[in-house]
Order: sequence, then C-alpha cells, then structure tokens
Amino acid sequence: LIRRVRNAVLPVAGLGTPVMPGAQTTPKTLLHVVDRPILSYVVEEARAAGIEHFVFIVGRGQGAIEDYFDHNPEVEGALEAKGKTEILADVRRDLPRPGEMSFIRQMAPLGLGHAVWCARDVIGDEPFAVMLPDMLMVAERPALAQCVEAYGEVGGNIVAVEPAPKGETHKYGIVALDGQDGRLNRMTGMVEKPPLGTEPSNLFISGRYILQPEIFHILETQERGAGGEIQLTDGMAALMKRQDFHALEYEGTTYDCGDKIGLLRANVAFALRRPDLADEARAAIQALL
Ligand code: UTP
Repeated sequence: LIRRVRNAVLPVAGLGTPVMPGAQTTPKTLLHVVDRPILSYVVEEARAAGIEHFVFIVGRGQGAIEDYFDHNPEVEGALEAKGKTEILADVRRDLPRPGEMSFIRQMAPLGLGHAVWCARDVIGDEPFAVMLPDMLMVAERPALAQCVEAYGEVGGNIVAVEPAPKGETHKYGIVALDGQDGRLNRMTGMVEKPPLGTEPSNLFISGRYILQPEIFHILETQERGAGGEIQLTDGMAALMKRQDFHALEYEGTTYDCGDKIGLLRANVAFALRRPDLADEARAAIQALL
C-alpha cells in the first residue's frame, strides 16, 4: 500500500557548532545563502514535492524560525508605504498557509534520531519525509520530488544519496547496496561516519528521506550511537531488517551548509545561478582571486 507523503519533518535543533558564533543568536538554518535564509530554499523544495504540512523540530532560543514564517507587520507596512511591491512579494513568499507549520521543541539535542522521534504524535501512522535543512539541493527536478516519485514506484523507505568527494566518506552516513543498476537500488545496510577505507560504497546519505511510521517505535528505545547521539542511521538500519529501503541517487548536487566552507560554497554557487546577480557575482569573485 502506497500512501501519499503529506508531512515533512525538518530537524533544526542542533547547536550548529561548525558555524558558531554566527549560529549563537541566529539559528544555523536562518543563516543566509545570498539573500534568503537556508530554510527558505528547503521549504520551497518541499512544496514542489507536494508537502502540505511542515513539522519543525526546534531547540531553545530558536524562536526566530517561527517568527520568520509569520507576518512582520512593521517590515511589510514599511515596504507597502514605500511602494516596494517586488520586495514585499519576496518577503511574503515563504509565509505558510494557516496551519501549515507545526513547531516542536526538542528539549535537548540528543541526536537526529531523537529529533525525528519528537515528531511521532504529529505525524501519526503515515509515511513522511525528513529533510535535513542544512543540506541545499540544486536539481532540475527538486530532490524531494524525485524521492517521492521513487517512493511511488517501490514504496517502503527511500534514502537520497550522492557520490561523496574522494576521501570524504568518513564525514557522512554511507549506504551499502545490493548491486548498482540505475539510480534506484535496494539497500543492504548503512553506517554512520565509517573510518576511511571501511566504507561500503562512496554514496553518502544526503539529507532527504521518505520513512515509514514504524521508525518511531524503533527510535523510542534506540541506544546512543556515534558521538553519543541517538542516530537516525542506527534506527533505519534496525527498520531495514523488517522493511525495504531503497537508495535513490538523485539527479542534482548537494551543498552542505553546515560548516563554514560549505556555507561559503553555497553562497557562491547560488549567486552564480541567479540570473539577476550572476554577472556581478562572477566579476566580484574574480576580482578577489
Ligand atoms: P548535525 O549533526 O549536522 O548537527 O545534524 P549540527 O547542529 O549542525 O552540528 P553539531 O551537532 O552542533 O556539531 C544534522 C541536522 O539535524 C539537526 C541539526 O539541527 C541539523 O539540521 N539535529 C541534530 C537536531 O535537530 N537535533 C539533534 O539533536 C541533532
């Protein structure tokens, strides 16, 4: 039985240590890529995949995320008074329909698996998407939409993957496959941050998932894993004993905005892709080299 994927869980409650001190007062996912917070791109990607409801897992001090997705009468009023209609439309572009977003507090950042588990009562008994919102995907067809389509074909659980740059597999969750034929392959295992040389493939889990609700039962009693955190990867590995998992090597490129250089790369890449900025951006970058 293939049920529609209506909900997306966006865990944003991590500390964002690699982008401190900026992430101290601005949650990591509100840091900018060009002129929009990272989260703005992720919400847009989710909408393109038919997501109707967003479940943010937030931490203490991240109220700015809720505020971003609400009206700002002062800013909107000022723009309106000045006749800046284009900027006003841009400011309003990310606003949800009433009831489209829920915010859940993860009271301590115990790990991604724990963050996802916090969404269980809001999600209920339905398949759902998980989007790691510090991963930005540039793709002709939005990455999550590709996952939803793959899910429509094979059902079960879907994990988006991408070849890791050489020598960087130890930084990510890596999948093991039952042979490689085309872009959608059955998974046989996965491991979080394998020491170099022990990785079962070069494909890293890039931050988009379609999961079945049975994952919540597993996460409920999931022990701490790598880094002393309750890992989603461990929970998925346990669920894989009972359910199918497929890895989708989606068509596109991932920009990991979770660290300094990744955030810088994303800013450069996205500026160069913007028709209104590309020429000036290229000139500005070249002048620095
Ligand atoms: P990361 O491991 O990249 O977390 O988690 P981080 O916060 O950027 O880095 P550290 O832990 O401070 O070094 C991947 C995603 O999962 C969320 C993070 O916010 C990030 O979007 N997350 C992680 C949570 O929501 N809760 C957690 O307990 C852990």
